[in-house]
Amino acid sequence: MTMKTVNLSVTCQAEMDCPKEIVMWNYYDHEHLVGTHYKLYDHARVLAQRDDWALVYRGKKMPFLPFWSGGMALQYMEGNVMKTFHQDQLGFLLEMEVEFEDLPDDRCRITATYNIITHPIFKVFEPVFKALFRKWFWATWEEDAPMRLRRWKVHKLGFKDFSGIDYINECLPEPRDKRVPAFEFRPPISCLKAIKSVDGERRRFAHSTEVGYNDD
Ligand SMILES: [Fe+2]
Repeated sequence: MTMKTVNLSVTCQAEMDCPKEIVMWNYYDHEHLVGTHYKLYDHARVLAQRDDWALVYRGKKMPFLPFWSGGMALQYMEGNVMKTFHQDQLGFLLEMEVEFEDLPDDRCRITATYNIITHPIFKVFEPVFKALFRKWFWATWEEDAPMRLRRWKVHKLGFKDFSGIDYINECLPEPRDKRVPAFEFRPPISCLKAIKSVDGERRRFAHSTEVGYNDD
């Protein structure tokens, strides 16, 4: 006899003023979890990654829930969709799909669908599940937005990871040729060693003054 299940599901959609590859890069930048999202994550460790496959441990604080919990997630790309299987310490398997679409004028649309397939008894919690994940999506979206927009902005100036902007490094005038190469998403993206170590990366502070990026 097969056990009956229910699928708790919620979809969130948003648009951003940068190419979709910037947002993909952001989803594969595991180090920013304990920095940009220090209120939501206190620990991150990359256990394994190859090409667009990554197995990552995250210590996190879900909105509404009064405790921190850890979870292991595998993420990979299937065309323009990032698939994530996330097993948390409560035993739930969260299956997330994030679809990336190009929009005109270097913009993009992101559609994230969260699914938990579980015992029918949890059906009564579906409104809570939907509220929880909507809140989670928008909390992370708002924290990520300045970083993504800045990433796109400095890419257009010629920025390269761990190198900077050539003409500024060399104290040369700004080049006249303003053609911008496409932002390429080529995972795994470069990172420091700590997050791949046994200890992983822990957040450096639990409280901070939000300084933001006020240089538009
Ligand atoms: Fe993020």
